[in-house]
Amino acid sequence: MQNDVYEIVARRGIFFRAFGIYNEVGGFYDFGPIGFRIRKNIEAAWRDVFVKKTGAYEVETSLIVSEPVLTASGHLSTFTDPITYCEVCGTPYRADKLVESYFEKNGMVEEASKVKKENIEELEKQLKSLPIKCEKCGNRKFSKIEKFNLVFKTQVGPTGKEPAYLRPETAQGIFVDFYSLYQAYSPKLPFLVAQAGKSFRNEISPRQQLIRQREFGQMELELFFDPEEDAASEIGVYNLQSLLNEQINFVKAGSEEAKKDSLASLLSSGQIPHAYMALLLFLEKKLIGILGIKDEEYRFRQLEPEELPHYSKGNIDLEVRTSYGFIEVAGNAYRSDYDLGQHAKLSGKDLRINVNGKKVLPHVVEASMGLDRLLIAALEHSWQKGEDRGWAWLKLPESIAPYRYAVFPLQKDEKLLAKAKEIYKHLLEQGVECYYSETGSIGKRYAKADEIGVPYCVTIDYTTLEDDTVTIRNRDTTQQVRKEAYAIQ
Ligand code: GLY
Repeated sequence: MQNDVYEIVARRGIFFRAFGIYNEVGGFYDFGPIGFRIRKNIEAAWRDVFVKKTGAYEVETSLIVSEPVLTASGHLSTFTDPITYCEVCGTPYRADKLVESYFEKNGMVEEASKVKKENIEELEKQLKSLPIKCEKCGNRKFSKIEKFNLVFKTQVGPTGKEPAYLRPETAQGIFVDFYSLYQAYSPKLPFLVAQAGKSFRNEISPRQQLIRQREFGQMELELFFDPEEDAASEIGVYNLQSLLNEQINFVKAGSEEAKKDSLASLLSSGQIPHAYMALLLFLEKKLIGILGIKDEEYRFRQLEPEELPHYSKGNIDLEVRTSYGFIEVAGNAYRSDYDLGQHAKLSGKDLRINVNGKKVLPHVVEASMGLDRLLIAALEHSWQKGEDRGWAWLKLPESIAPYRYAVFPLQKDEKLLAKAKEIYKHLLEQGVECYYSETGSIGKRYAKADEIGVPYCVTIDYTTLEDDTVTIRNRDTTQQVRKEAYAIQ
């Protein structure tokens, strides 16, 4: 997929490397004002689909977690990636990515897609047999592969003796708070808890801009249910029976190719491990549609047994095509009662809840979405070459565009400037997202608005001074219509 959106990203400061003036640590990014707005709008779209319309409780839990939480969850023992070092210069590499990128660079797409980080023996063989070189010093000797734990460690308090960690997922905060939520709100199963926020992973070799970062935005939904009960017919506004008719692009484990199938059929054949996971896939497809990703550009992929995270009984990833290939933007896991069971064991607290006189430890299905990867996908898919108008631009859906309007006086004439500012202030007072610019020719200002995806430009001209009408230029068609300035919303 050819894509030059990153030229706009860099020039307009949509996002950039954090601490860039020191140019040291990789894997951290900052968002400029435009990136910040688009990213927040994507989060708001997620909140609408996954939280408001499902009736989920949304929480905000601590970024720093104490040791027992991650001992119980298994992250301290099993959350690892395979690491190898160049034996000459000591540069560390994520072994699977080193092999995968060798295949990719040599056009061996199929071999690249078969590289699995869990397959350490095979990776060892490939590192020895393939002419893979250290990117830094060019040598071909790599150390034995080890497992590297990705959790960031810190300490709490002045003694330096109490270990703590930056959360590797937002989900654990939800599991740890599960019983408090139950006591405070007495919800009936199934009930849903969501959280959006930053998570942290000490990636061995962060790459591909926002795709593999050490600090990233996550949006997670945990659906708690009684495994002995049939799935509810409705969750919030969603009707389970009717959404099962939805067709999705699905790659089953062991296959390379996506095929269209209905959620109902994938569920009855056991490829979707629970009806509630079908709901999550439905919501994800809906969300990426809202972000402007077309049907042929995504696929759901059933993970191979060896790819399953330590807590999962079945995982399905959502992948979107980008210039980096298909990237995972969401992971769906049937976590069963793994997390609650582990927290009950380690804390000594009975986390079972009362359901019609019986004690139940709920099961969980989870939808975990990567906010920054969705931002990358939305930016790439909105990018237009714009040869007809002489500049590249972003066809962002209106709901995630950074501003709805750009307000321009046609020329630098005192009367036009004053009127344009008056209209701009009026729009701001109405709560409309807009910005004002009087710098450069009107054509240049249109171009600058187009390239960050602003759907409408409002231009104040001499007719405005007579009758309070303005021209509204449509970003997608470049057509202009005249409208009353004070009626714009
Ligand atoms: N909660 C799943 C993950 O962060 O990978």
